[in-house]
Parts: sequence; C-alpha cells; structure tokens
Amino acid sequence: MPRLFAIGLLCCTPALAGETSPSADLVDLVHQDCGSCHGLTLKGGLGPDIRPQSLSHYDVETLSTVVLDGIPETAMPPWRPLMSEADAKRVAEYLLQGELK
Ligand code: HEC
Repeated sequence: MPRLFAIGLLCCTPALAGETSPSADLVDLVHQDCGSCHGLTLKGGLGPDIRPQSLSHYDVETLSTVVLDGIPETAMPPWRPLMSEADAKRVAEYLLQGELK
C-alpha cells in the first residue's frame, strides 16, 4: 500500500520514534520515506541514486550528517527532527552496505 510522504512525516512514524526500533522498521523507512524521492529501490527518482555503489565516496559519519541535516537549497530534507543520531548512523550503514548490521 503506498504511503504518502507527508503522512509518513506527520503522523505514522513509529520507525523514527526511538533508538530501539527493530532493524526491519528502519529498512522499511528507508525504502518508503527515502524511496518516495530516491525511488523504492533507491536507484533514483526526484533524488539521486543512493545505492551503495553510488555512495562509496561517503563515510558513515559524513553520510549520517547528510541524512540528519539534509542538503541546503535542495529538496533533500533534514531528518534530525524525526530521527535520532543513532538511527541516522544505522541508516548510513545500511545505505553504504546494503544491509543492516
Ligand atoms: C523530498 C524528497 C527527498 C526525500 C524524502 C529524501 N531525499 Fe535524499 N535527496 C533528495 C534530493 C533532491 C537530493 C539531491 C540534492 C542535490 O541536488 O544535491 C538528495 C540527496 C541525498 C543524498 C546525497 C546523495 C549524493 O550522491 O551525494 C543522500 C545520501 C540522501 N539524499 C539520502 C536520503 C535518505 C537516507 C533519505 C531518507 C531518510 C532521503 N534522502 C530522503 C531528495 C529527498
């Protein structure tokens, strides 16, 4: 069932609620919420391809900062209001490796 990005942001974000969210929720979040712009398989849409081979120039720290703060003056939003730093780091690890540790 497609979920509107705005709804995901405003109300239904259990995956973002805390650092204890199960890994599967974080993966869902990436593919649904990030996927609303980057494509469900993350190969690009409104936003660029963010599969591991496209992000190899990033390290985990830099990438989690991009996720937390967004990219100013672009459609890439900051996720800090919705995501803990620990979750952002796990998202970054997931994006870089294609799997969650
Ligand atoms: C509202 C649309 C939108 C959403 C939602 C979104 N992004 Fe983006 N993202 C973009 C756009 C547009 C860019 C390209 C910005 C630019 O021009 O540099 C981008 C860029 C990025 C980049 C940098 C890519 C590179 O090659 O440097 C990363 C990483 C990224 N997004 C990750 C995410 C993650 C992770 C999420 C979910 C937590 C997410 N994005 C959600 C629109 C979005």
